[in-house]
Amino acid sequence: MKEFKTIEPRATENRKVLMEIEQKTGLNLKLISPQILSRLNMLSNGSEILKDELHAMDLALGFFKFYEKQEFPFSVEEKRTILLGSLLSDIGKTGPSDASEKLSASILNMYKVDKHFNIHTTDIHAFLNEFLNEKQKEYTSALNTININGDMKMSEFFHLHAKWTLDILKRGKGVPYDTIVAAASHHILEGENPAGVIKLSRAAKMVILLDKYDARRRRGMVTHQAAIDWLKDRIEEKTTNTAEKEEFLELILKMDTAFQNSNIYDSGAKINNGEYLG
Ligand SMILES: [Fe+2]
Ligand SMILES: [Fe+2]
Repeated sequence: MKEFKTIEPRATENRKVLMEIEQKTGLNLKLISPQILSRLNMLSNGSEILKDELHAMDLALGFFKFYEKQEFPFSVEEKRTILLGSLLSDIGKTGPSDASEKLSASILNMYKVDKHFNIHTTDIHAFLNEFLNEKQKEYTSALNTININGDMKMSEFFHLHAKWTLDILKRGKGVPYDTIVAAASHHILEGENPAGVIKLSRAAKMVILLDKYDARRRRGMVTHQAAIDWLKDRIEEKTTNTAEKEEFLELILKMDTAFQNSNIYDSGAKINNGEYLG
């Protein structure tokens, strides 16, 4: 399979990144409000987060191309939801929509820490102490302004970004409703359902699967097969509705075929069981 092209976002190249996004999604970003775009810019400044989203978009484009000639049509709307949903799902890592610049930057810097630790046992206090020691005081007081305290577990803090994604996209303008729902639901398997979704669309399922596949492969550094097996286990374990489960598993099967020979990741066969939830 042909290697997908991946964009390397750099602070000075934000414009270029945004133009490439327009090309990929077919969406005129001028229609999207500056509040949303400025958050996207924040993500692209020196963080790996936007890179992950662009990776997921590249995976989606490769996926569409692979199935182009076969009987597996995604509508234009579905494709747009998948691409744009992948791009915007983590925009909430910049905090709530009404966050001050300082609070936004504090929250983003915490999400940017790409270290391996137990998110279920580590609380914010211990996390800051270990990884952002010199900023501990500053970040703690910024978080206190929105009633987040040091004893909150990092797993809980981590999942807050789904709610903030919904908040930012709903308050801004120009993002289609289906995309907002898909982006905000990307941690639904972990019990985060800020948009109150009852049935996930096929496109929303793809956003979830691509986010998790990329997180396992890039940050977890596992092989294609290990990432696919992990996704299947996760769906088996977390999905109770039979029809939902079937659609998820069918999409994973398609991803397995489409991605098995791709070489967009430079990972080896290292198995890492950390929590890389995207
Ligand atoms: Fe996420
Ligand atoms: Fe993500």
